[in-house]
Amino acid sequence: MNYRHGYHAGNFADVLKHAALCELLRLLLSKDKKLFVLDTHAGAGGYDLGGELAGRTGEAEAGIARLAAAPRDGMPAAVARYLAAVAAYDRKFGPPTRMGAATGGPRRYPGSPRLVRAALRPGDRFVACELHPGDALALKREFAGDRAVEVRQADGYQVLKAVLPPPERRGLILIDPPFEAADEFERLARAVRHGLRRFATGCFAIWYPIKDEAAVAGFLGALAAPRLLTMTLRLADGGETGKLTACGLAVINPPWRFDEAMAEALPWIARALGGKASLN
Ligand SMILES: C[S@@+](CC[C@H](N)C(=O)[O-])C[C@H]1O[C@@H](n2cnc3c(N)ncnc32)[C@H](O)[C@@H]1O
Repeated sequence: MNYRHGYHAGNFADVLKHAALCELLRLLLSKDKKLFVLDTHAGAGGYDLGGELAGRTGEAEAGIARLAAAPRDGMPAAVARYLAAVAAYDRKFGPPTRMGAATGGPRRYPGSPRLVRAALRPGDRFVACELHPGDALALKREFAGDRAVEVRQADGYQVLKAVLPPPERRGLILIDPPFEAADEFERLARAVRHGLRRFATGCFAIWYPIKDEAAVAGFLGALAAPRLLTMTLRLADGGETGKLTACGLAVINPPWRFDEAMAEALPWIARALGGKASLN
């Protein structure tokens, strides 16, 4: 396990995933019923963008820093809400330099568990899994003493099998693997199909890299999901560096009006980052 999300925190892929995650949470939590959230591949929880890992790649420059520095005129509400969530985390946990026009972006960036935690209401339940010992320890420290978050150092795919369906009968399952393994798409599709058999009404959000279009098409087909929405974000420059420049998020059973919010947000995000987006 070599992957550390700290190298990639706040990059364009996080922008797509986290803007959508914030909107999913907002819509799912607008109903007056308890929600269960499972983050199968949670990472460290929060990241120092000026620190050793993120500082080495500077990937956040082309992601959250660029989005935060974009003019606010005409900014869709979903983008503004995502930026507000990032700024709130940065204000609370970051160093004295704050996100804003002068700095261009946050110093500390929230991972998916922090965005989930910030949105939850009392009585909602959240399980976050992380397998890497160092990141699992960081995640445990991030939520030490917080009884609303159950951190498990465990294989998220196994936990998914064990905890579905949740007693709440309403749930969001975020699956965000590192794609280090050659068979990750197959493993992921198997896990989702299994999850859907146990919890057909659950909302599943699945992040994936786009390097091989045929592999992505095969994966999306293998999900066998009747209510599937896919979003992609592709940066304009790239290819030569070998760095990832395109990714997608598949959402199964999206909440009502999620598609409308993202149809407005995605082109704006893509313009701000100098890329292209699609929604199907
Ligand atoms: C892309 S990162 C997660 C980022 C996080 N979801 C976010 O948005 O902030 C993937 C994480 O999965 C962890 N991981 C890898 N295999 C795992 C597994 N089988 N179960 C749980 N975590 C795993 C990696 O250590 C890494 O921290």
